[in-house]
Amino acid sequence: MKILVSAGPTREPIDAVRFLSNRSTGRMGCAVARAAAEAGHEVALVLGPVEIGPPAGVRVVRVETALQMLEALRAELPAADALVMAAAVADVRPAEPAARKLHKGELAGTLRLVRNPDLLAELRPLKGGRIFCGFAAETDDVLGSAADKLARKGLDLIVANDVAAPGAGFAVDTNVVAVLRPGAAPERWPLMSKLDVGRRLVSLLETLAARQPGT
Ligand code: CTP
Repeated sequence: MKILVSAGPTREPIDAVRFLSNRSTGRMGCAVARAAAEAGHEVALVLGPVEIGPPAGVRVVRVETALQMLEALRAELPAADALVMAAAVADVRPAEPAARKLHKGELAGTLRLVRNPDLLAELRPLKGGRIFCGFAAETDDVLGSAADKLARKGLDLIVANDVAAPGAGFAVDTNVVAVLRPGAAPERWPLMSKLDVGRRLVSLLETLAARQPGT
């Protein structure tokens, strides 16, 4: 299969030296990309600014902002059979990023934020027979919020994780997830390494692709 993965945070410039971002380290998405490459798939990885090195054997497209990530995904999606959106896309961006460094007095009270597009919603018209997998990082009502996103975003599956749970969340190499699919009971996976979550997810994608016409 050809698998397109997004990973990492996005960075939204405030001015020449400052940005808005989040705590994503790219570990989960890079683990999915690595697992997919190791299983023999052709992998394109759209990667936000992260410190970890991307896995070997994948084609990496580096991006910084949510809008750049959207453009990169739009360009890559037509060639893909599956999209795994593990990126933590910033939900807002400064309305008017300054080309120079703003002085502190100019920041407080004047920083106006606008919503970033929902990338999965923007890509949905291009979905066709492709498998779309989302991630949901939650701190409360994990399964309820993930089920809502699964339906709202028209996904084939969503990987829900409680980022506040021991062994899960940012900057650790393990994760505790539940996988939700439309019309099926949530499948809770035990604590495992992010790489093993990636491996199990890739084998699930293979199973779904075998059932789905046109992939
Ligand atoms: N996502 C996206 N575009 C965004 C935000 C999120 O495509 N602007 C994707 C993420 O990559 C993930 C899924 O949507 O696969 C769920 O992300 P999450 O941040 O949990 O959802 P939000 O839509 O931001 O919902 P909320 O802010 O209500 O939690």
